[in-house]
Amino acid sequence: MMKIAPSILSADFCNLKHDIELVEKAGVEYLHVDVMDGHFVPNITFGPSVVADIRKNTNLVLDCHLMIENPEQYIEDFAKAGGDILTIHVESTRHIYRALQLIHDNNVKAGIVLNPGTPLAEIEPVLPLVDQVLVMTVNPGFGGQTFIHDMVKKIQKLKEIKDQNKYSFDIEVDGGINDKTLVDCYKAGANVFVAGSFVYDAEVPKKQVELLKNAVKN
Ligand code: DX5
Ligand code: ZN
Repeated sequence: MMKIAPSILSADFCNLKHDIELVEKAGVEYLHVDVMDGHFVPNITFGPSVVADIRKNTNLVLDCHLMIENPEQYIEDFAKAGGDILTIHVESTRHIYRALQLIHDNNVKAGIVLNPGTPLAEIEPVLPLVDQVLVMTVNPGFGGQTFIHDMVKKIQKLKEIKDQNKYSFDIEVDGGINDKTLVDCYKAGANVFVAGSFVYDAEVPKKQVELLKNAVKN
């Protein structure tokens, strides 16, 4: 099933509750929560206390994308804060297998994510462990960047590996997603679509969600 995950990175942080309600009413499945530490990526957002406040205000699945060094230090905090899926970068820790096990030990879903420059081979050993694989289609750190088209091949390859091994993980894409790039990713095998600026930088976010949802029906 196709899922839409609006990224609150492009929302108004002073009106977060309102902006979350807008996409809730549009019928999205996930809320994508971008956590940045200023080390792993050259930008800073927020930590577990903000995630806990978001949790109190929505029933949407909180899809937490942790762009932080040594994520294992904070996994328990984000799980306690109410994150439903914790997705960590393969480049962010020396002990990716242990970090993913730790996420499951905290009874939440585990995702692995890779930067555009990181080959799929880096994550192959941990694929049996994960509930979701996130393929970055921009360099992480900022909203509003241009989709890197070469990543479509990476999604195709990942889908092949998934089918060959009968894995059940979701394939998520993040960065530069609009109603056109979504179609390319969908055809390649992705089923969860993060969209920040396409949803929130528009006059009517609900309409943008509908455009995304209907993009593959045409
Ligand atoms: C970028 C973040 C994305 C970001 C996407 O580092 O991981 O989730 O919000 O923004 P858009 O959809 O504008 O590319
Ligand atoms: Zn993200």
